[in-house]
Amino acid sequence: GAAGQNTYGPLLQRVGGLDVVKKVVELFYRKLYADPRLILFLHDQDVMHLRAKQSAFISWLFGPPDVPYLGRSVRIAHLRIVKQRGFIGDDFDLGMKYFEQSMAELGAPEAIIGEVMRRLRPFRDAFFTPSPKDAEEEA
Ligand code: HEM
Repeated sequence: GAAGQNTYGPLLQRVGGLDVVKKVVELFYRKLYADPRLILFLHDQDVMHLRAKQSAFISWLFGPPDVPYLGRSVRIAHLRIVKQRGFIGDDFDLGMKYFEQSMAELGAPEAIIGEVMRRLRPFRDAFFTPSPKDAEEEA
């Protein structure tokens, strides 16, 4: 059936289950790799590697509320593209827009899209706020 028929329960179920999430992620990557600006940061990345790395994050994203993300820092994961390739806030926003569009195109209801985007938005600051750990990563 179409995504997001349920009104209650965990986000994963409300969005339509794991199959829908997988399709969202697939479509999201297709949009990222088709973008002439974002490809600058992705051309030398293996898409399978990237997807594998992000899978824990995606599980968290669609998982139960009030669970903090305890994975690797997104600042550190993107430090090279931020510092060496000029990845900026506009690029982050473009990625966010593609994620939102991917959910919408797969039929997720507005309310669920809003919920997911609210969980993602705080990571913007994390991307671009220098951290004492930057130096370790760059060493
Ligand atoms: C990993 C690029 C947006 C979350 C990565 C990696 C790259 C990358 C190159 C792999 C780093 C490595 O190999 O260690 C990009 C580009 C984006 C983007 C070009 C364009 C918009 C986002 C957004 C989020 C995000 C919006 C979440 C808010 C993550 C996470 C990982 C990751 C969680 C895996 C971290 C780990 O556990 O190692 N990204 N990213 N990315 N990205 Fe992004």
